[in-house]
Amino acid sequence: MPLMDFQLILDEIDAELRPRLSAVEGKVASYIPALARVSPARFGIALRTCAGETAQAGDSAVPFSIQSMSKVFSLTLAIRALGEALWERIGREPSGSPFNSLVQLESERGIPRNPFINAGAIAVADRLVSQGDAKAELLALLGRLCGEPIAIDAEVARSEADTGFRNTALANFMKGFGTLDNDVATVLDVYFNQCAIAMSCEQVACAAGYLCRDGRHPLAGTPVLNAAQTRRVNALMLTCGTYDAAGEFAFRIGLPCKSGVGGGIMAVVPDRLTLCVWSPALDRTGNSWLGRQALELFVAKTGLSVF
Ligand code: DON
Repeated sequence: MPLMDFQLILDEIDAELRPRLSAVEGKVASYIPALARVSPARFGIALRTCAGETAQAGDSAVPFSIQSMSKVFSLTLAIRALGEALWERIGREPSGSPFNSLVQLESERGIPRNPFINAGAIAVADRLVSQGDAKAELLALLGRLCGEPIAIDAEVARSEADTGFRNTALANFMKGFGTLDNDVATVLDVYFNQCAIAMSCEQVACAAGYLCRDGRHPLAGTPVLNAAQTRRVNALMLTCGTYDAAGEFAFRIGLPCKSGVGGGIMAVVPDRLTLCVWSPALDRTGNSWLGRQALELFVAKTGLSVF
């Protein structure tokens, strides 16, 4: 395996992309008011290798709202608790539709296409509610993965709940089909709070570390998932992690990725490293505008891709 100076590579990416912040083409998510207040002029990137080497540049230590990146960690908890039974009510196909779309749920009888669209993540939250205190479990998992406490931004959580009309519709629709076991308000409370977790690029790059080492804990080496389960999470990230841009991400980047409307994107280079990039302005598919460019540059500079 060639040795690479990852710090130099991230510094180059930061130097090359930072000037583009003044001419951002995307828009910060505005449908959640607390996110609309975040400055678009932010860019951070961090990575952590399987060997524990780290590199970071820009605003890599600044906490931001992880939003849909949380769906990877809630899925991890649900796979651990339920194994194969999880897939009885959640699909594994890309949706080709926006992350908050309602349309497929009707013809597909309340079974979400995959665990990363909002409907799928709400269904995962329902399974977790049946297992116990889902919010506490998720924060505990993230805290163990990062080796430091992780918290929910209460203002963002409130803002999500105040304006979560589409998510409320999705949850009620699934409840109507009988595919949610628990009370809609309880399930949505878990979902809104998981989206409002605040983490930095450095923390996300570390927390995701089990995804590049066959499921083993990034710091302790103990199993978080087994190798087969980890391959499946990565496969879902590649095919569904960036919603209706998943084909474009596979084409341009070729790494399992998961984005969030806070502007974060985490990516996995299996057997090598995990990285996280953050820049709040989004393209029309809800993925970070500059974040995607950073991942493209990273792959171009390192040749690291699953293809
Ligand atoms: O439920 C929502 O719409 C947001 N809390 C999360 C959506 C999201 O992050 C989609 N990602 N790109």
